[in-house]
Amino acid sequence: MAANLAPRAGWRAWMLGGVGLLAVLLALYVVAARRDAQLLRADPDAPIADAGLKRAAVAAGRGVFAANCASCHGADGRGGRGVPNLTDHDWLYGTGAVGEIEQTVAYGIRSHDPKGWNLAVMPAYGTIKPSPAHQIDPLSPGDIADVIAFLDRARGQPVSDDGAVQRGQAIYAGRGGCYDCHGGDARGDPAIGAPNLLDHVWLYGDGGDASVFQSIALGRRGVMPGFLGRLSALKLRQVALYVRSLSETPKETP
Ligand code: HEC
Ligand code: HEC
Repeated sequence: MAANLAPRAGWRAWMLGGVGLLAVLLALYVVAARRDAQLLRADPDAPIADAGLKRAAVAAGRGVFAANCASCHGADGRGGRGVPNLTDHDWLYGTGAVGEIEQTVAYGIRSHDPKGWNLAVMPAYGTIKPSPAHQIDPLSPGDIADVIAFLDRARGQPVSDDGAVQRGQAIYAGRGGCYDCHGGDARGDPAIGAPNLLDHVWLYGDGGDASVFQSIALGRRGVMPGFLGRLSALKLRQVALYVRSLSETPKETP
């Protein structure tokens, strides 16, 4: 008798163990799904009160970033030539709010998606027709050098040629039309992605006269793909929270 019972009891224990394990997995799944739903329902820009929820989302976003964004923006998010640094508190588009980052990532920049950022392209002033979209006249290499002299002085760099600075200012605010996109004060316009020309943050090159000359003469049109079809709504939210967190960390004080 006893010899018969033992295998059956072992089998029952296995069954119970299996059901228990399934129940635990299901519970974990339900908790995770509820957290994800909570994250998606929330206003992206409202601070997340639940610290655990936020930590989990940012950690998941780090993985999404490594797999989809690091190839261009760098593993640490500091970017490179033509690819903006995402850790520097300086935003080309908008103010760095989570909802804005999410939109940029979903629809891209000059990505041929009508919902993507595509409001302005840097004209190629050294060519016969600088802009396909606007009536803008070309500038001669001398004109471009004058505009650079004006911007250098406005940035506080020493420039000896007063004539060049004055001519450059007139071109900036006049026939060059730079003010139209970069603003009358040359501090850029985050509503269209026109960079601030007076800070020391450069999207292209080191800010030396040669790379600035190239930006003005040949134009620029950075492209970032949209991720809407490739990343789920949840992953978009997670990666936006992660990107936001990169510039929330206070700078290390030595
Ligand atoms: C139609 C709008 C428009 C006009 C007009 C325009 N820009 Fe731009 N400019 C842009 C945009 C947009 C970018 C950023 C391009 C990108 O992200 O790839 C840019 C980029 C630049 C850059 C590169 C900045 C960096 O951080 O590397 C320089 C320099 C610049 N513009 C100078 C000028 C000057 C000088 C003029 C006038 C002669 C001018 N721009 C006129 C839209 C404009
Ligand atoms: C193929 C290269 C590429 C990939 C992949 C890429 N980006 Fe970008 N990203 C760019 C470029 C280039 C720009 C700047 C475009 C311009 O000149 O305006 C940009 C701009 C941005 C901006 C705007 C920054 C600002 O200052 O306003 C954000 C935010 C951003 N990327 C996040 C991401 C995230 C998150 C991912 C991954 C899901 C990603 N990017 C993947 C190339 C890329």
